[in-house]
Amino acid sequence: TVQRARLVLGNWKMHGTLADNAALLAALRQGAGNHCEMGVCVPFPYLAQAESLLKGSTISWGAQDISVHEKGAYTGEVAGAMLRDFGCRWALAGHSERRAMHGESDQLVADKARAALAVGLTPVVCVGETLEEREGGNTLGVIERQLEPVLALGADALARLVLAYEPVWAIGTGRTATPEQAQEVHGAIRVALRGLGVPQVRILYGGSVKAANAATLFAMPDIDGALVGGASLVADEFLRIAAV
Ligand code: G3P
Repeated sequence: TVQRARLVLGNWKMHGTLADNAALLAALRQGAGNHCEMGVCVPFPYLAQAESLLKGSTISWGAQDISVHEKGAYTGEVAGAMLRDFGCRWALAGHSERRAMHGESDQLVADKARAALAVGLTPVVCVGETLEEREGGNTLGVIERQLEPVLALGADALARLVLAYEPVWAIGTGRTATPEQAQEVHGAIRVALRGLGVPQVRILYGGSVKAANAATLFAMPDIDGALVGGASLVADEFLRIAAV
């Protein structure tokens, strides 16, 4: 069987101030020790701060989005090379909030993953169904549709990225998917990855992950870690998730 090192990533979303971040990052750095691979995805303006406060630690950092373009007249966009300039390791692609609020299509999300890979960043490609889609019995169909252009990037690309399953109804709601519900989707994704010869791709679960529920999620065979929103803003809670 293929070994997949557990990964716990924080997604701060649009939270933070210089002062709050300094305290949070210092506490993470201080508490870092007996934990799995771990990183934080911070708002663009705070990447320099994350770099200066995390450099030399065991905690990596990254961005929450990336432009598909290299450079040019794209007001408001941030290029992968710029993220590299600030030592980023990760770039989220296709978080459900961006799909929903910024109309990001499945193809655009795959293009963002490709852009990240092109500059040596690890894309974390997010997929997930809405409550309506789940209740309509379409969960696996939606995931398959969202993943199609990503899987089309090919085995070499897939081997260098991370996937995250975040059911939209579980995000920020306190309503975590049960380990079985999550595993059903992770297992289906694994079958597809195995078919493409890349069973080693890590699949994170996201959606109301907390220290209290992380262990049961991580016990599932195809859940390789977590993408954590709210709980990643509380140092002790986030560290406990990474220490499971
Ligand atoms: O990307 C992580 C996220 O969408 C989950 O958010 O607050 O439910 O942990 P939260």
